[in-house]
Amino acid sequence: MGRSYDSRWSLHGMTALVTGGTKGIGHANVEELAGLGAKVHTCSRTESELDDCLLEWKAKGLHVTGSVCDVSDRAQRESLLNTVSSEFNGKLNIVINNVGTNIGKMVSDYTAKDVAFLTSTNFESAYNISVLAHPLLKASAAGSIVFISSIISTKPAYFAPIYGANKGAMNQLAKHLAYDWAGDNIRVNTVAPAVIKTPLAQRYFFWQFFEGHEELIETAVSRTPIGRLGEPEEVSAMVAFLCLPAASYVTGQLIYVDGGMTTNGIYFPHKKIKNTMSCVSLYVVGKL
Ligand SMILES: NC(=O)c1ccc[n+]([C@@H]2O[C@H](COP(=O)([O-])OP(=O)(O)OC[C@H]3O[C@@H](n4cnc5c(N)ncnc54)[C@H](OP(=O)(O)O)[C@@H]3O)[C@@H](O)[C@H]2O)c1
Repeated sequence: MGRSYDSRWSLHGMTALVTGGTKGIGHANVEELAGLGAKVHTCSRTESELDDCLLEWKAKGLHVTGSVCDVSDRAQRESLLNTVSSEFNGKLNIVINNVGTNIGKMVSDYTAKDVAFLTSTNFESAYNISVLAHPLLKASAAGSIVFISSIISTKPAYFAPIYGANKGAMNQLAKHLAYDWAGDNIRVNTVAPAVIKTPLAQRYFFWQFFEGHEELIETAVSRTPIGRLGEPEEVSAMVAFLCLPAASYVTGQLIYVDGGMTTNGIYFPHKKIKNTMSCVSLYVVGKL
């Protein structure tokens, strides 16, 4: 202890891997960590989008590099971690297991292929990347892993049973790793967002599966004390905090970033609900 204020609230001199950094929450995570001084490596499957993001970050003066990688593929994960190891000289401070996706179906309608795809993308990738990164995190002597879970990991939603089960497994894995690796100076935490305005939310939660998506958004907002959907930066702020030296006594925790939704209140008279329908319309047409 006894560190200066500046060193407790800065990531200068640290290195990070953020999976799925070209959109949504991952994009915000990259900018948050790099903005606090970390050197960040990220990945996605779409080369053109990755290239555009890397140019954007360079123009902002952020130190970010990237690889094309499908994290659901074991060989590509190994290659990603080899790249990270050589780029950061065998040491890594931060891993953000951000990639995740959903296929909206009723539970009996999933095919074996759907389940394999969801489980390898949402759970196995995060597990295996953590294991592959373990020697690098240990070598840094100050490691932090953050898993991006979901409120659906603990609160069932009928359009996401496999996704919810994958994220629940992720929550439990994080607790095990927090125990196993505390002696290596690696902290492990989980952040569980509610509905955040990202391409994933628009694609899977609303567009593809729900005909009445306006009603769904209204329901989500009406159950949220803060009275609105979340922004990616509201998740990345918590993720960054967990990676800072200031969070040195926080490990094994599941932290909701949900506007208060998981408090499960039954009635709160927030004013914004009156305007929800107009907000919903704007969000659905991509203006909010
Ligand atoms: N948005 C929400 O409401 C919400 C709520 C709770 C939890 N979450 C969780 O937050 C995390 C991020 O979600 P998001 O909403 O930001 O998602 P998103 O908008 O779909 O962005 C996902 C990012 O990951 C990349 N990606 C997807 N699959 C990949 C793969 N197999 N290998 C490598 N990169 C991949 C995407 O780029 P490419 O497609 O080009 O690969 C993109 O950069 C997920 O774990 C999700 O479950 C989201």
